[in-house]
Amino acid sequence: MSGDAYAHAGLELDDRIVREVLTHGQVEVDGRVLPASNVTLVGEAELDGVRLRCVYKPVRGERPLWDFPSGTLAAREVAAYEISELAGWHVVPVTVLAEGPFGTGMLQQWIEVGDDVAVDLVPEGEVPDGWRHVLDAFDGNDQPVSLAHAETPGLRALTVFDAVVNNADRKAGHVLVSAGSRVRGCDHGLTFHTDDKLRTVLWGWAGEQLDDSDLTSLGALDWAFDDGATRDRLRALLDAPELARLRQRVQRLIRTRRFPQPPESWRSIPWPVF
Ligand SMILES: Nc1ncnc2c1ncn2[C@@H]1O[C@H](COP(=O)(O)OP(=O)(O)O)[C@@H](O)[C@H]1O
Ligand SMILES: [Mg+2]
Repeated sequence: MSGDAYAHAGLELDDRIVREVLTHGQVEVDGRVLPASNVTLVGEAELDGVRLRCVYKPVRGERPLWDFPSGTLAAREVAAYEISELAGWHVVPVTVLAEGPFGTGMLQQWIEVGDDVAVDLVPEGEVPDGWRHVLDAFDGNDQPVSLAHAETPGLRALTVFDAVVNNADRKAGHVLVSAGSRVRGCDHGLTFHTDDKLRTVLWGWAGEQLDDSDLTSLGALDWAFDDGATRDRLRALLDAPELARLRQRVQRLIRTRRFPQPPESWRSIPWPVF
């Protein structure tokens, strides 16, 4: 059964197997995601008869940016996955660095999304019960709208994750909701900068207290950085100042016990939000 059919049947492969297939499998590209800021390809990876759908972003296809060093976005995506796993959040699809038909790149498990959304623009004042209001604005047709997001444990974990990895690009379209309302994020190339750059649609908890489960994940992460093998693995993906700042952000969250607040000094909401 192909990975696609497998996911459609509501089945999920073990992450270790997904990692093996993405790392050592044969990748065939059959499409490109548009619009996308980088060369973002989709296809299938196959290893010993196990096929699964994946995203493939070759390093060569990365668009140069003024604020991130060239050729580093794929490694940042892999580091983001590693951090999500170390903290126990599991909010990033399995992501590895591997070889594809256009050279080294990041390969990521494709997530089949359903009809549920976790972030939305709604008519102003009509934020659904159990959702968090982020801001009011005018949409492309000059209609007053509110930006809001769901209030689920998965989205909360993704929000703390973004603060940790310093995600500069959490658009609504980068929040994937799959079967069983499971929330995961994608597009983590603009992360781990040493300057604070958190730019996100997920400000619904801004300034509020972190709870015990948030602090447990952050504590586990802080602890994980003491492990030499973990540090070496991350050091292969990020430079030393980036790793040092990463740990400082984790420790700052543990100390303040609060979600960050949107800053005055930089644009903290991606617009358009999708
Ligand atoms: N692993 C994934 N599973 C499902 N959909 C994905 C995945 N990765 C990306 N997408 C979809 O493809 C779009 C473009 O991918 P993205 O990672 O944002 O590329 P870019 O870096 O070019 O902006 C996303 O907004 C999302 O809708
Ligand atoms: Mg994107």
